[in-house]
Amino acid sequence: MLYIGIDLGTSAVKLLLMDEEGRIQNELSREYPLEFPQPGWSQQNPEDWKNAVLEGIPALLEGFDKSQVAGIGAGGQMHGLVVLDENDQVIRPAILWNDGRTAQEVDYLNEEIGREKLSALTANIAFAGFTAPKILWMRKHEPENFARIRKIMLPKDYINYILTGVHCTDYSDASGMLLLDVAHKCWSREMLDICGITEAQMPRLFESYEAVGTLRPEIAAELGLPEKVVVCAGAGDNAAAAVGTGTVGEGGCNISLGTSGTFFISSDHFGVDPHNALHAFAHADGHYHLMGCMLSAASCNKWWMDDILGSQDYAGAQKDITDERLGRNHVYFLPYLMGERSPINDTNARGAFVGMTMDTSRADLTQAVLEGVAFAIRDSFEVARSLGLDIRRSMICGGGAKSPLWKKIMANVLNVELLTPVSEQGPDMGGAMLAMVACGAYPTVEAVCAKLVHAADAVQPDPEIAERYEARYRQFAKIYPALKDVYPTENPFQ
Ligand code: XUL
Repeated sequence: MLYIGIDLGTSAVKLLLMDEEGRIQNELSREYPLEFPQPGWSQQNPEDWKNAVLEGIPALLEGFDKSQVAGIGAGGQMHGLVVLDENDQVIRPAILWNDGRTAQEVDYLNEEIGREKLSALTANIAFAGFTAPKILWMRKHEPENFARIRKIMLPKDYINYILTGVHCTDYSDASGMLLLDVAHKCWSREMLDICGITEAQMPRLFESYEAVGTLRPEIAAELGLPEKVVVCAGAGDNAAAAVGTGTVGEGGCNISLGTSGTFFISSDHFGVDPHNALHAFAHADGHYHLMGCMLSAASCNKWWMDDILGSQDYAGAQKDITDERLGRNHVYFLPYLMGERSPINDTNARGAFVGMTMDTSRADLTQAVLEGVAFAIRDSFEVARSLGLDIRRSMICGGGAKSPLWKKIMANVLNVELLTPVSEQGPDMGGAMLAMVACGAYPTVEAVCAKLVHAADAVQPDPEIAERYEARYRQFAKIYPALKDVYPTENPFQ
């Protein structure tokens, strides 16, 4: 049988067709626009996601026997606020995970409701990208839109709703709303009250690998698929990517270098970072994970290459950066182009190059961008180490992981072995694997990972380079605290 995996990303949707032996039959991607209507705001139109998926699936299946398709599973960009009215029409553009407009609401939640209470109710504190502060923002700034809300959901849940007609979400994605009692896997009534919404407005909760329904007849006809195709609840993109790299069960680790950069530790047990620098979320395997998320990772390199250097030759820009140069760059880059989430939680933080001289070259700056992202991931690693987690190896995935240089820098900055899976697909592969479990092809998420995920390539840290990077990281760690006071103190996004 065949399974469709969907990765509903920030710049594009990726679609994957896979059989239950893990052989990729076809893949494609469809881009859609991303709006920045004001500095620090980030929105997308859910109709664009819908059109990209509904046009993409028939193209993905061209030449294949559609009667063989058994299931569909999606991983999606997390935290985005999607609001539907009483006719299930989208009320306003979705406010995305990297949107920074909610600084006041975040302060209200963290300072007035209080971090301790939020953490007791939801296992997390407020961050600007999370969904609850966006609901408060909408209540204050768009009261008419707010009054029309009948259902609240997350980006991939909107796609599942279009496919099945069921208002649903899964525990991993719901964890990032700041409305879920993560420990007990139910909506927090108190958090819903704080945001002025009711449980009736929330979608039904499922495990990621559970079936939420089958295709609506009109959608099945449009896609040319049997109505019995099962749609599973799917997961937030990081949990889905973790499934795609086999990061399940106790002590697994995955790094994703996509638009965002995430550091993901899976666990069989529920646990909270006492300082809430790492998110404590449910995992798509039915258990839990801790995660650090930086807002701009591969997007920093994309900005540097496309917008500043005006070049698409990513490999060419990196070819002169030899081992000799690693850990010896005199320039540092702070990657806070959209503010930052983990671990500093500062919407006002900004990017910076520090330490340039007359002989600084393009290659030094390119290298500094790659290193700055690695150092910022190391910040979250340090939090995990302070919790006693001893991480020696990690999987790595996402667009940035296609660069051998960037992987080498990451391995040495973190001083861990980095493994790339044979199939580098992250969330779309994870989505297809979750659909396999929902359809009964595998009994558990662990079982499908054990069968389908194999590591292809390992990058070991080099003791000399890692030592040089250790010293560089100590310097890097001093820069943000020194610059913090020169960033705007008033939130510029209001
Ligand atoms: C995770 C997060 C990002 C998005 C990217 O908390 O905000 O990784 O999920 O799509």
